[in-house]
Amino acid sequence: MQDLIVRNLWFKYPRTEKFVLRGLNMEVTSGEVILVLGRNGSGKSTLLKILAGVLEPSKGKVLIGCVKASEVAGKLTGMALQDPMHQFSFITVLEEVSVPLKIRSGNGGRKRALRLLHTLGLEGLAERSPYTLSSGEARLLTIAAAVAGRPRLVLLDEPFTGVDPNQAILIAEIVRRTASSGSMVVVTSLLAAREVAKGLLNPSQNLVLEGGRLMDL
Ligand SMILES: Nc1ncnc2c1ncn2[C@@H]1O[C@H](COP(=O)(O)OP(=O)(O)OP(=O)(O)O)[C@@H](O)[C@H]1O
Ligand SMILES: [Mg+2]
Repeated sequence: MQDLIVRNLWFKYPRTEKFVLRGLNMEVTSGEVILVLGRNGSGKSTLLKILAGVLEPSKGKVLIGCVKASEVAGKLTGMALQDPMHQFSFITVLEEVSVPLKIRSGNGGRKRALRLLHTLGLEGLAERSPYTLSSGEARLLTIAAAVAGRPRLVLLDEPFTGVDPNQAILIAEIVRRTASSGSMVVVTSLLAAREVAKGLLNPSQNLVLEGGRLMDL
């Protein structure tokens, strides 16, 4: 059974003429890691926001476990935005992970949130404002927030941008662990960086977004 089903997805932004996504199809099963590659402006971030349920399709279906993505946004899905500074909503680093933990699993306890920060080497920053983090630290925090509470679908928009090789290996390890606990993980990367992303993730599907459709690499 496919846990994420995308059927004939079309999307254009309000007050624009051009469709960014044009009849796109996708199927993902529990435990899979999917890599979506594309050039600048090909629609990677748009696709992830639709899968996250924060943008509604113009036409077509996006179902997560048979329910519309927008009905389970934030609860069954966790997303790390391409620009971490667009993501943060809370006063402290700790809250950035404890709030999604609570929403998804009902338990946003300090100990649990600190443990999650620890896996990404961020525990020393728990009481800081997320806006004071370095760009690499901020990227790691968005990933911690996206996987907190083990959502069914984890969406990571260019997670390897701006991180050094050790951190990239750590992120890949988190992706692997998240998938092996049963989540689906969709990761985007620039087409130009495909070898690095493929090597780090060993994805079950390598897809290229071009002309508003997905095709196998
Ligand atoms: N809010 C918006 N209103 C109108 N057009 C938009 C909006 N957001 C994005 N677009 C357009 O949609 C297209 C796809 O953008 P998107 O950000 O999804 O691409 P991307 O593949 O993520 O690019 P990048 O690699 O630069 O991150 C682009 O042409 C972009 O200009
Ligand atoms: Mg993008």
